[in-house]
Amino acid sequence: MKDKPLIIALDFPSGIETMHFLEHFNESLYVKVGMELFYQEGAPFVYRLKELGHRIFLDLKLHDIPNTVQCAMRRIASFGVDLVNVHAAGGSAMMEAALEGLEAGTPSGQKRPSCIAVTQLTSTSQDVMSNEILINRPIEEVVLTYAHLASKSGMDGVVCSVHEVELIHSCLGERFLTVTPGIRPKSVLVNDQVRVATPEIARQLGSNAIVVGRAITCADNPLDAYRKMYKEWIGSIE
Ligand code: C5P
Repeated sequence: MKDKPLIIALDFPSGIETMHFLEHFNESLYVKVGMELFYQEGAPFVYRLKELGHRIFLDLKLHDIPNTVQCAMRRIASFGVDLVNVHAAGGSAMMEAALEGLEAGTPSGQKRPSCIAVTQLTSTSQDVMSNEILINRPIEEVVLTYAHLASKSGMDGVVCSVHEVELIHSCLGERFLTVTPGIRPKSVLVNDQVRVATPEIARQLGSNAIVVGRAITCADNPLDAYRKMYKEWIGSIE
């Protein structure tokens, strides 16, 4: 990932709504297809987005036994997507199997999709960690330990909060990708949203890619919202 993508999360229930949204743009985008859209439309819709020239992050967050993840990744690599992900909680054997599947499924002459690991979901609180899944460690320590494990297992990076980017890069190097959701435009950022940040803060802290959903998909003028956030992200001054 040499450039600095702003990845638009296509969190729509079907292809019709998605295509309607994409009509606002006449340029190639980097889009994220998540579970809702993929389970509704399947691989044919991924091919359609590719034909339109968009780059694709297929966000299915795989987490299963290594053999199942390997077989699934072999199929996913054949779609020609650019970025995929797994849960680091699946362990090193599962992450290594995911990479083997991706290598095996990538058509010859093409680059295998980058693969990143989810450390802890932003919806997982310290209380859930301690009292439900019985991980009695501070959330930051868990995120960093999982990021180390992901790196050792050959992952290209992690999905993380903007506020974890600096620590992850300082421990694992600048080439280890940090892909950060939880992005809000400056105008709507309020103080109590602890795990969110603006595109500008994401840039300053060294995030490699930002994922933006509702701030663009629900905007009155999605193209305008995209352009404003993109400028803030890449730091261009008009
Ligand atoms: O609308 P919003 O910008 O909050 O959308 C964020 C997107 O990022 C959603 O598609 C959500 O699934 C995704 N996400 C993620 N990993 C997280 C948190 C959010 O991929 N840890």
